[in-house]
Amino acid sequence: MSQLTIALTKGRILEETLPLLEAAGIEPLENVFKSRKLTFETTSPDIRLLILRGSDVPTYVEFGAADVGVSGKDTLLEHGNNAFYEPLDLKISICRLMTAGIAGKQLPPGRIKVATKYVNLAKRYYAEQGRQVDIIKLYGAMELAPLLSLADEIVDIVDTGNTLKANGLEPREKIADISSRLIVNKASMKMKHQQIEALIDAVGSAVTERAA
Ligand code: PRP
Repeated sequence: MSQLTIALTKGRILEETLPLLEAAGIEPLENVFKSRKLTFETTSPDIRLLILRGSDVPTYVEFGAADVGVSGKDTLLEHGNNAFYEPLDLKISICRLMTAGIAGKQLPPGRIKVATKYVNLAKRYYAEQGRQVDIIKLYGAMELAPLLSLADEIVDIVDTGNTLKANGLEPREKIADISSRLIVNKASMKMKHQQIEALIDAVGSAVTERAA
């Protein structure tokens, strides 16, 4: 059997991904939260895990440095282009991608400023809406931007809505429902078909069991 490399997104998504992998019989041999290592062997001798920053996972999978990846749909939408297969919704890390602005404050007419880390996605979204926008790239704390007049709106993920509320913002339009997805490199899907199909089946069953 050939070696299968799975790229995982560190942080909250990782915490929810590991139980699914475990249910599919794949467990890292070391504690991934304590180690500074970036690659981990697993209880499946042919499977190793990479722990990456979320936005790097699609890139690793697109170029075949990893055969399989786990990535938030928000990250996949931002990455764009149909660069890999997306065979499985893991139904974890569920949230919504939304526009938001200061509660009760109307958007000004004409061109607006939008702060987000999802630059490509936001450009596409507002173009579809027929809105002229200037996108301002931020790396975090998007909620501050409208408060300090850096932007008229933000595009960000919303879960409970508490962060928006705590900062006097309101959710406006939903751009997409978000959850984490299993993605597969296109060439790997051909070359390692049996192994990857078995993985998709096993993880798919774990997802179904978790929902039951
Ligand atoms: C996300 C997002 C919001 C918050 C929304 O940030 O950017 O700030 O969660 O959650 P809520 O609706 O339940 O309040 P996260 O904590 O993932 O950190 P990040 O800024 O690094 O993305």
